[in-house]
Amino acid sequence: MNQTPRKILVTSALPYANGPIHIGHLVEYIQTDIWTRFQKMRGHECHYVCADDAHGTPIMLRARQEGIEPETLIARVAEEHQADFAAFRVGFDNYHSTHSPENQVCANTIYERNRDSGHIAKRTITQAYDPVEQMFLPDRFIKGTCPKCGAEDQYGDNCEVCGASYSPADLKNPVSAVSGAVPEQRESDHYFFKLADFEEMLKSWTRGGHIQDEVANKLDEWFESGLQEWDISRDAPYFGFEIPDHPGKYFYVWLDAPIGYMASFRNLCDKTEGLDFDDFWAADASTELYHFIGKDIIYFHTLFWPAMLHGAGFRTPSAVYAHGFLTVDGAKMSKSRGTFIKARTYLDHLNPEYLRYYFAAKLGSGVDDIDLNLEDFTARVNSDLVGKVVNIASRCAGFISKRFEGRLTDEVSEQSLFNEFITAGETIADHYEKREFSRAVREIMALADRANQYIDEQKPWVVAKEEGKDAELQAICSDGLNLFRLLMGYLRPILPGTAEAAETFLQIEPLAWEQLSTPLTGHTIGKFKPLMTRVDPKQIEAMLEHSKEDLAAQAPAAVVKPSADSPLSKDPIAETIQFDDFAKLDLRIARIDKAEHVDGADKLLQLTLDLGGETRNVFAGIKSAYAPGDLEGKLTVMVANLAPRKMRFGVSEGMVLAAGPGGKDLFILNPDEGAQPGMRVK
Ligand code: MSP
Ligand code: ZN
Repeated sequence: MNQTPRKILVTSALPYANGPIHIGHLVEYIQTDIWTRFQKMRGHECHYVCADDAHGTPIMLRARQEGIEPETLIARVAEEHQADFAAFRVGFDNYHSTHSPENQVCANTIYERNRDSGHIAKRTITQAYDPVEQMFLPDRFIKGTCPKCGAEDQYGDNCEVCGASYSPADLKNPVSAVSGAVPEQRESDHYFFKLADFEEMLKSWTRGGHIQDEVANKLDEWFESGLQEWDISRDAPYFGFEIPDHPGKYFYVWLDAPIGYMASFRNLCDKTEGLDFDDFWAADASTELYHFIGKDIIYFHTLFWPAMLHGAGFRTPSAVYAHGFLTVDGAKMSKSRGTFIKARTYLDHLNPEYLRYYFAAKLGSGVDDIDLNLEDFTARVNSDLVGKVVNIASRCAGFISKRFEGRLTDEVSEQSLFNEFITAGETIADHYEKREFSRAVREIMALADRANQYIDEQKPWVVAKEEGKDAELQAICSDGLNLFRLLMGYLRPILPGTAEAAETFLQIEPLAWEQLSTPLTGHTIGKFKPLMTRVDPKQIEAMLEHSKEDLAAQAPAAVVKPSADSPLSKDPIAETIQFDDFAKLDLRIARIDKAEHVDGADKLLQLTLDLGGETRNVFAGIKSAYAPGDLEGKLTVMVANLAPRKMRFGVSEGMVLAAGPGGKDLFILNPDEGAQPGMRVK
């Protein structure tokens, strides 16, 4: 490897600060992490930065709904996100927030320079306004009847039933999803980024080898339909940065989001001796800058972002790499099937290395969607990682420890096999570099097969029983372990945790690519411990059940959510129902006769309810707020005619009503003493 060290800055898209990380997100963070770990192993200077995307209307409303300040919400989510990423060994060099002083400075600079060069226009637009909440409504917060097919309850600008797209102004019987009020049309001044000013620059940039071919083709369509001015301002109330020269106007979240890449790097520079911001962002920078993103946000990253950067006198990205979307068992992730799996739920059941390996085995350089087939996941992890790779070490290590005090031979005996592995290393590196991880994995597994075949042929377990064959036994096992070391080196970007455990067992420094060709000789290894266990299909089942249970546990708190002023109106999920719908609910007083912990459930308590003669078994997601003893003997209100639901722990026959933001604050409705079990609630 005669490469001069490169200087590389890498980013993944910034996850929104209003929800948890799920396994769909992880496709991207794992893909990026593998690539950056590979670059570091090759000896390059590589910085991987990310941040939470903390601004915008949904985050503002979510915080309101929880009755907290947006700052409190984003601080909590930032912690959760980072804990999830760390557990999956996504090794950011810096994780920051778009709601940061660095980002405000960068956003102002980019805006002001573009404005001073004449790339910002002001126009008056008419927009839906919620007179109750006194705020302009983004399209997704308006609901109404589809003007094409008449389907009710359709969001903002497109109909989920007939697929039509339309302007929110054409929606029939529109209502605000925030307050339920009928929106008015109001005028307001907005600021626009004149994207068309950059048409020539963008055409040459997008054809300059900076994006995948399939993405460039998509962009051609966009060029053909004409580059529109981009609305970059929003009116108060808005959670974001106020535009410097326009009080009461805020930068639209997507303006300052990509600038968050810069801000996170700026923050890293401030903490790191010798790391220079301009080295990576000045117009004439000779360093490399890569953005990994999902295919849904291509427009922002390949048109707006390079144009904004260029307009402000900064460098443009070396490349933007888009990936496809994750499906589970061939379908979109689904809450009801339990395949909408949060990172945390996965971690409660399975080893993160498995998912890293599976995604790597599926990922190529294109934008195709990737499918997590759960049966295939189990089979592949068990046969490739446990059956092939780890097995090599376990077949050789015992003999070396027991018979040779852990000492490897002074030289490699099967030099040609060793060389074969080294030669393959260059092909593997090439695949990693081009983000063809599935090819790298295939190549590595072919080598693992070769190593196992070698051990099968040499039969160390037979040699071990023969007189006077010690040297031969030590040679076979030392060679086997050297091949194992190479495999772990090649897999290291994908399996950092397993590689670390292997390094401890081999008693070696962290594997770097350049040293791989030097075998381990005359070296003493440590005691072998199994590096990975098999996936048990039961763990997968439990994970799916747990994902469904997350949903059930959220349900009671979703019934009534308190907020600053108008409790019910603040829930963008709650739809208006008719009286007939309400009348269908059979609400009854129930006495909690028994409350018990449920083995293996984090959120649920099992309640035995007395409905005045009839007994019901109900699982309620209120464990965070109540110890069983607090509940026994209490009266509460329940939905008595809810269809029974089969859950992992048994059948739940109804639902208890509770209100609150969650956690400790979850209040079961507590009727007056005079109430009797079984009474109907009116
Ligand atoms: N906040 C914006 C990105 C701003 S970047 C300046 C955003 N956030 S997101 O949380 O919705 O998504 C973060 C990344 O995860 C995006 O690149 C998105 O494409 C990716 N994914 C989200 N769901 C995904 C799948 N189901 N499958 C694969 N990637 C997915 O967009
Ligand atoms: Zn329709």
